[in-house]
Amino acid sequence: MKNKFLLFILTTLVYTTNMVADNINDTIVPTKHNKELTIGRLAEIQPGLGTIMREFGHRFYIAYYAAKADNWELAEYQIHELIEAQEIAEATRPKYAKQLKSFEDGSIKRLQNSIEAKDWKLFQQKYSETTTACNACHKINGHPYINYQLPKEAPRYLRMSL
Ligand code: HEC
Repeated sequence: MKNKFLLFILTTLVYTTNMVADNINDTIVPTKHNKELTIGRLAEIQPGLGTIMREFGHRFYIAYYAAKADNWELAEYQIHELIEAQEIAEATRPKYAKQLKSFEDGSIKRLQNSIEAKDWKLFQQKYSETTTACNACHKINGHPYINYQLPKEAPRYLRMSL
C-alpha cells in the first residue's frame, strides 16, 4: 500500500516536471511589438553558426591589419571577441562544438601566441595557417564554396595604427 502511494507520488512528480518543461517553451514573454512571443520562439532565434561566422570573417580580417600596424592590443582584442562569439555557436549549434573547440585550442591559440610575442613575421605565418584551418572546416562540413580570403585593404572605420 505504502509502495503504491510512493509510486503514485513519483509518477505525478515526473509527469508534472515534464509538463513544466513543456510549458516553459510556451510561456509568453510579451514585448512592445509582440504580445504573443514565447520563450521557445526566443530560443529559436538565437544566432546560428552562419551569423557567428560573419563575425569571424570580420574580426579575423581586422586582427590582421591591426597586427600589421603594430596595434597588437587591437589584434588581441579582435581574436578574444572572436572566441567569445564562438562560444555562442557552441551553445546554439552543439554539433560543431567539438570542431570549434579544437580550432580554438590549436590554430587560434598559436595565432594568439604570435600576437603576445608581437612578432609580425610569426603572426603572418600563423595567420596563413589559421586561414587554411578555417577553410578546411568549411570543406569538411559541406561548404567548399566558402573560402575566406583576406581583403586587400584595412577597414576604414577603425584606426589601425595609433
Ligand atoms: C568548426 C568549423 C568551422 C571553422 C573552424 C570555421 N568555420 Fe566558417 N563556417 C563554418 C560553417 C559550417 C559555415 C556555414 C554556416 C552555416 O551553415 O550556417 C561557415 C561559414 C563561414 C562564412 C560565411 C558566412 C556568411 O553567411 O556569409 C564565413 C565568412 C566564414 N565561415 C569565415 C570563417 C573564418 C574567417 C574562420 C576562421 C577564422 C572560420 N570561418 C572558421 C564552419 C567553420
